[in-house]
Amino acid sequence: MRAVILDRFGGPEVLQLGEVPAPRPISTEVLVRVHAAGINPVDLKQRQGHGPLSHLPMILGWDVAGVVQECGFGVTIFSPGDEVYGMPWFPRQAGAYAEYVTAPSRHFAPKPPSLSFPEAAALPLSGLTAWQLLVDTAHLKAGDRVLIHGAAGGVGRLAVQIAASLGAHVIGVARAGHHEELRALGAAELVDYTTTRFEDVVGPVDVVLDLVGQDYTPRSLPLVNPGGTVVLVPSGVDDAVARLGADKGVRVTNFLVEPDHAGLLALSRLVGEGRLQPKVGAVVPLEDAARAHQLAESRTAGGKVVLSV
Ligand SMILES: NC(=O)c1ccc[n+]([C@@H]2O[C@H](COP(=O)([O-])OP(=O)(O)OC[C@H]3O[C@@H](n4cnc5c(N)ncnc54)[C@H](OP(=O)(O)O)[C@@H]3O)[C@@H](O)[C@H]2O)c1
Repeated sequence: MRAVILDRFGGPEVLQLGEVPAPRPISTEVLVRVHAAGINPVDLKQRQGHGPLSHLPMILGWDVAGVVQECGFGVTIFSPGDEVYGMPWFPRQAGAYAEYVTAPSRHFAPKPPSLSFPEAAALPLSGLTAWQLLVDTAHLKAGDRVLIHGAAGGVGRLAVQIAASLGAHVIGVARAGHHEELRALGAAELVDYTTTRFEDVVGPVDVVLDLVGQDYTPRSLPLVNPGGTVVLVPSGVDDAVARLGADKGVRVTNFLVEPDHAGLLALSRLVGEGRLQPKVGAVVPLEDAARAHQLAESRTAGGKVVLSV
């Protein structure tokens, strides 16, 4: 099959189209013909050698939308021809920048019928991150106040929609140019981080999603009600920050997204209800993966960059 092979870490130019044997599904696995593969910040970090994997050569990519080609022994939830989407294997190699992937069937779910393949490929990693953060980790409920740093990004935009659908009061931190769109997606308050320190204008909150890092978690802690939760997403929580949280009775935690059949079904339900919509900024052919990474790195596409396979 055709695949984008990474045989050394480096800039976008290291992404080269090649030929490798197609994977074969074993028991409980499906073979999926990939139609679209979404690009996430972790792909860019992995290409540079700063991702979860250290072996070479490898095939990048975790976000998949495609069609089931073959089912291994024991698979009961899919049949050949079914349209599926998912984030298989993360943080092990999934190899989404290729014509075929294999993975346990429950790493996938039926593709929401209203989404195109590129839209469906833009959803799993960012959407599962937002869902697992808000629902499984922070236990967000109606009436809670949630502060989202990086609200206009791939994860943040979906987190705003999911939090609003849960009935929370959503406060988003993003550039002013994104405010109108984020308000339409459900944000009740917005702060422009380029002109305003969020801690000067935001009232008490129950949950903080820190999708930015830097000093955003320690700066957010004074705003959080006792019993609240802060999730630091781009990096680990250091001892000093953990102590700050403990002194305040606030839970401060790391997070890493996991493959999640139930989470995908929940995202699909929200899409079906018209309460969640991924945003594709550009669709680029697989053979132009280097250009697609440049575009994703420039953050000028206005949405997720997706490879069409
Ligand atoms: N641990 C996990 O499981 C997990 C899962 C998914 C993502 N992540 C990580 O989480 C981070 C966000 O992911 P993503 O996919 O949403 O990335 P993204 O699409 O690149 O979005 C990042 C957003 O952060 C905004 N931003 C940058 N500096 C900011 C600041 N000082 N204040 C407020 N917003 C700021 C950017 O806005 P501008 O364009 O205005 O700069 C952009 O909208 C990345 O580091 C990613 O690797 C971790």
